Amino acid sequence: MKQHVVVLTGAGISAESGLKTFRDSDGLWEGYDVYEVATPEAWQRNPNLVQEFYNMRRKAVLEAQPNAAHYALAKLESKFDVTIVTQNVDNLHERAGSSAVLHLHGVITKSQSSKDPSLTYDIEGWELKMGEQCELGSQLRPHVVWFGEPVPMIEKAAQICSTADIFLLVGTSLNVYPAAGLKDFVPNNARKIVVDPQASSLSVRDMRIISEKAGVAVPAIVEELLTS
Ligand code: OAD
Repeated sequence: MKQHVVVLTGAGISAESGLKTFRDSDGLWEGYDVYEVATPEAWQRNPNLVQEFYNMRRKAVLEAQPNAAHYALAKLESKFDVTIVTQNVDNLHERAGSSAVLHLHGVITKSQSSKDPSLTYDIEGWELKMGEQCELGSQLRPHVVWFGEPVPMIEKAAQICSTADIFLLVGTSLNVYPAAGLKDFVPNNARKIVVDPQASSLSVRDMRIISEKAGVAVPAIVEELLTS
């Protein structure tokens, strides 16, 4: 039976594709107030601003390309069962060829009904406009989880983590819960590796720490796993 590799990724894996992280010094939350653009209250108060924020981010995602780290993780599937659990709303893992990707915080290339979150639709191009409606006649919003909203995929993600033989943690500051708690579901005897230039400041235990950028370190680890 193939070993199960579970990879929990965050914004850092897409940094070398040109997409901003959230909490680095030039990160997105330096330029925007989270509560103005990424909460249900913001949507109530100023939906135009929220749409504009996500339209700009969607444009950046569509213009970005997967990097060496995304491609290396797709290559791992030649020897392992691989599940990617990502906090990212970009689709770079899928575009690099990964076949099992669980998006904890949604996907920016989709819209969702503001009445029924289970109704989601593909967005053509980069722009979601005010006036565009779901089949129930309510305004479409970005298919992303905002602060203060439940994370519907968390239980499935925890179950996936609990079956890991090898666990890779790549490019996340582990600041946002419940995602940050997923590492605690990984079995004690799993092999655990963390890749992040700031890895030494993360609160992780029993992990091999690689303080390097994902584009360099992830292909090296993948090579190591494929040849061992
Ligand atoms: P953060 O911005 O909090 O953390 C990014 C992490 O990536 C940091 O630990 C950086 O050191 C690391 N990093 C930067 N460049 C890197 C590179 N080239 N290679 C590897 N690592 C690198 O982003 P997340 O942890 O993903 O939620 O943030 C979690 C959530 O907070 C996001 O999903 C988003 C945000 O608010 C929602 O939008 C709901």
